[in-house]
Amino acid sequence: MSNGRTYRVAVLGGDGIGPEVVNAALEVVRGAGVELRTTHYELGAARYLRDGFVMDDATLEELRAFDAILLGAVGPAIGDTRIPNGVLERGLLLRLRFGLDLYVNYRPFRGVAGSIADGHEFAIVRENTEGPYAGEGGVLRRATPHEVATQGSVNTRFGVERCVRYAFERASKLARPRLTLVHKTNVLTFAGDLWSRVVADVGEEFGDVEVDYNHVDAACIYLVESPERYGVIVTDNLFGDILSDLAGAVTGGIGFAASANLNPAKTGASLFEPVHGAAHDIVGSGRANPLAAISSATLMLEHLGEGDAASKIARAVRDFSGDVTLGTTSITQEILGRL
Ligand code: NAD
Ligand code: IPM
Ligand code: MN
Repeated sequence: MSNGRTYRVAVLGGDGIGPEVVNAALEVVRGAGVELRTTHYELGAARYLRDGFVMDDATLEELRAFDAILLGAVGPAIGDTRIPNGVLERGLLLRLRFGLDLYVNYRPFRGVAGSIADGHEFAIVRENTEGPYAGEGGVLRRATPHEVATQGSVNTRFGVERCVRYAFERASKLARPRLTLVHKTNVLTFAGDLWSRVVADVGEEFGDVEVDYNHVDAACIYLVESPERYGVIVTDNLFGDILSDLAGAVTGGIGFAASANLNPAKTGASLFEPVHGAAHDIVGSGRANPLAAISSATLMLEHLGEGDAASKIARAVRDFSGDVTLGTTSITQEILGRL
């Protein structure tokens, strides 16, 4: 049962398969009986090519006021030289993450039948506003033999701690409460030291949570060979990005992987989107798996307090046969049929 409210949701379909999967997600949310008042924003490659900018300040402020934001994907096709690298990703997605202070990127996974992680559930809690994504660095003497490019990583006690605390809170709710810090403390000693001490400090508040540590390279082995060792993984922005595509692959495919960019204090809208990108290689083919977008919308419903509708959709997704060759429309129909 929906609690009867109508939610104002900003819909950013974006590029490539983004609009296809977001529309499927909206259909399913409505199919579960939740009323949405949607406002569609044309943001992404087409808008940039037409108007010469990605997103203005007024739009960012407008988006902040919604109950939630649902996003498909942003980014040009690999090799599309009309749009410089990073313009869309930084100008839209990262601008939203930073501007709305969406400091947790929560990415839950569940191995579909027949996948490497068959039946196992775990989550990645990715720090979402710092690390190498903060954009520290620059270029000197570009395109000369003496050029210099630096790309720093920002790690603050405040930023790391609030992310780690969220991860512990999630971990403490598991049937077997456990948290693994993934980092590269053997090389990135400054940031690694901060992250390790914060995990030890915050861990004192969560005595029931088993705490473990993996170097990120080894975590790539363990995710493939023994994913059942993980409950909640907490990690830096860039490691979290990379590990979540790997986690998608071992749990049945990137087309299943959902994410929530959260402002847990709820001082503004949070943003929900699949882990995958614009997938220009399959756009328009009808082959995009909409389940990542549908599960992202489920996370949105949980965040909005529509727990019953969220569970109903999550159950339908869990019961789905896992045959992704069915394509966008048939998968969506199958989910609708199970609600
Ligand atoms: P991608 O995730 O778009 O695609 C990687 C591979 O996964 C492709 O083979 C694609 O066909 C497949 N795939 C992705 N989603 C799928 C789905 N729902 N169903 C079936 N197959 C799916 O990654 P990429 O090719 O590296 O990036 C393409 C563009 O998307 C780039 O511009 C990138 O910056 C952007 N991107 C955006 C986001 C986002 O908006 N959150 C995330 C990742 C990449
Ligand atoms: C993701 C994406 C983004 C990221 C890109 C598009 C900026 O890959 O959400 O995983 O790196 O965070
Ligand atoms: Mn990614």
